[in-house]
Amino acid sequence: MKTCYEMHDRRYKMLKDEGQPGWDPCEVCEKFRGCLEETLKPEYVPKRGRLLELGCGAGNITVWLAEKGYEAYGVDIAPTAIEWAMQRAQKHGVSVDFRVGSVLDLHDFPDGYFDVVLDGHCLHCIIGDDRPVFLKNALRILRPGGAFLVNTMCGETMAAQCDPASRCIFVDDIAVRYIGLPESILEEIRAAGFEIVSSNVVSDEESQDLLVTATRIGKAWRAISPASHIVSGLNQSWAGAFSDDETGLESEMLWAGLIGF
Ligand SMILES: C[S@@+](CC[C@H](N)C(=O)[O-])C[C@H]1O[C@@H](n2cnc3c(N)ncnc32)[C@H](O)[C@@H]1O
Repeated sequence: MKTCYEMHDRRYKMLKDEGQPGWDPCEVCEKFRGCLEETLKPEYVPKRGRLLELGCGAGNITVWLAEKGYEAYGVDIAPTAIEWAMQRAQKHGVSVDFRVGSVLDLHDFPDGYFDVVLDGHCLHCIIGDDRPVFLKNALRILRPGGAFLVNTMCGETMAAQCDPASRCIFVDDIAVRYIGLPESILEEIRAAGFEIVSSNVVSDEESQDLLVTATRIGKAWRAISPASHIVSGLNQSWAGAFSDDETGLESEMLWAGLIGF
């Protein structure tokens, strides 16, 4: 299948000329922020530390996350979007490391560098054999015990625009979006080596999104059980804490209910 991720830049030039706030109109951004507020709430999602948004676009979400206290980074293939994002960060008075780059090549970042990696509605832009590359890259740069947050289009609401065999939307002969079924996307995430902690499908008349929180299990994982005295309301679940092998420091991260969720 033919892809052309660089074509997003053309759209950003148009959106900027039209005076739009970014890739999405304000109400879609607000919806994304609302979903993220919920996703970030559980105690097992790091509340500070390094966070990278993959496909950060004009930085509407990354800047908001920097304002929440994360040491924020954003990567996007579209130079116009990154320039726009830098201007937004400056306007909001926050420091964000924005870079032009492809999510298919994240070699700038060392292994285990991030506490949180966020899919900024980018995974559904990634097609075919590039998808496992995206997911493996996300896994590599996430620290064990870190959180990988996915927010991706899925399901049948866009069936009319999708080629039924590939589940892709095409513009001319270029595959521009992949609208997979929730279970198959979850399987891709697992196959890359992530452990799924929670998943949820959110639907309205126009679209269906799969929200996933996943983690990278490393050798530093140790189970402490039972968890019911740590997290109330969870029965027959286990909790684990990650400790750094070298320093012996235990992370504040506590993953509850990884088994049996
Ligand atoms: C749907 S937009 C979302 C943008 C932004 N996260 C937001 O919420 O406003 C998807 C973004 O992914 C970026 N993108 C697509 N393919 C990419 C690739 N291979 N590497 C990096 N970014 C990519 C696009 O340029 C676009 O900014």
